[in-house]
Amino acid sequence: MATKLNTKYLDRFISDYEYESISPFVRTAHDLLHSKTGLGNEFTGWVELPTEYDKDEFDRIKTVAKKIQDDTDIFIVIGIGGSYLGARAVIEFLKSQHYNALYKTTPDIYFAGNNICPENLNKLIKICAGRNVSINMISKSGATTEPAIAFRVFKKLLEDKYGKEEAKKRIYCTTDAEHGNLKNLADKEGYETFVIPNDVGGRYSVLTAVGLLPIAVAGIDIDNFMLGAKHAQDELLDPELNNNDCYKYAAIRNILYKKGKEIEILESYDPNFSMMSEWFKQLFGESEGKDGKGLFPASMIFSTDLHSMGQLIQDGRRNIFETVLLIDEPHCDFVIDTEPGDLDGLNFLSGKTISYVCKKAAIGTILAHTEGNVPNIIFNIPKVCEFELGYLIYFLQKACAISGYLLGVNPFNQPGVEKYKKNMFELLGKS
Ligand code: PA5
Repeated sequence: MATKLNTKYLDRFISDYEYESISPFVRTAHDLLHSKTGLGNEFTGWVELPTEYDKDEFDRIKTVAKKIQDDTDIFIVIGIGGSYLGARAVIEFLKSQHYNALYKTTPDIYFAGNNICPENLNKLIKICAGRNVSINMISKSGATTEPAIAFRVFKKLLEDKYGKEEAKKRIYCTTDAEHGNLKNLADKEGYETFVIPNDVGGRYSVLTAVGLLPIAVAGIDIDNFMLGAKHAQDELLDPELNNNDCYKYAAIRNILYKKGKEIEILESYDPNFSMMSEWFKQLFGESEGKDGKGLFPASMIFSTDLHSMGQLIQDGRRNIFETVLLIDEPHCDFVIDTEPGDLDGLNFLSGKTISYVCKKAAIGTILAHTEGNVPNIIFNIPKVCEFELGYLIYFLQKACAISGYLLGVNPFNQPGVEKYKKNMFELLGKS
């Protein structure tokens, strides 16, 4: 039981010959990734991570998560990009978008340092008043401005509230094993630290302490999460695209891109998937968007966005394709009652479940959009749980790497991100 690719709605868009033509390139991409000889090979440690992770640190993550659950009301996770998106995405998808309102036996979790908005920071400080707070500062480089500013603010808040010694026991840093300002600061102050392995880049780091500590604090079973990823690692090894859903997905994206379908819209019918889409957009956008190339990753939640963007998808410029996630077994369900008099005209749905209605909406939408010349890639996910999400995350990371190699770019660097920083630092007078 794991994520399955369903290509039945693609037949009119991609021929067998096109699959055959791309398959040698997929094999080459596989070889480059697994022999660690491709572009950016120094950042491919995530490929083996589900089996070759630091087991002692993994146990320490669980111990620290338990301590935080016991002594903390509010857990602030400070980080930006790959240093926060994965954790937030997993918590919201597995627990809820409303995690803080719904789960009272684990700390509330807030994310800071992912913007430069003073109002946002101000509100978060207010939320902390009178509550026990711990923080997890996450930065691989240890030098990123947005989280560094937030860390300064919350470090002081903790020191003012508890005194330096007690504050020290509530500050956890996740960073490089040896280098960077954050590592130096953490060592000097005596904070407990967790390591982002050298060979794992930010957006591929959710299966390291970057993701695992906040995820464990939320009460999510990280053993099963890693097990799902391991299952994907073992299963997605066949270089032949017809035997490997992950590689087939990468191939389909590339074929469609070359036919002018430059925008991929990732769609889910579960609003709790919204942050997973943000994680996906960073993963693919930052990995592929370079050298004048790259698919533009977009996302929508259906049926919500059918009432705002549905028109454009159905009838607008034909440069898009859709990747639709369908969950087979819902978390929970509702049966629609019968109303005497049927004043709202809904009795045609009496006795049906909401998930049944949703499935029909999804099929109806896929048929309409493919009819409108928008290719639809379908993923079937058996259910929402740690194991399945671990599998999906590994699947998408590997698909992204193979897609990047098919495009001829380095999927593991992000040179373009430096441009805004350079200008900002110059304007701020940083020497
Ligand atoms: O994927 C990446 O490498 C980036 O998105 C980084 O995660 C992001 O820029 C944050 O960097 P750092 O962890 O060094 O603060």
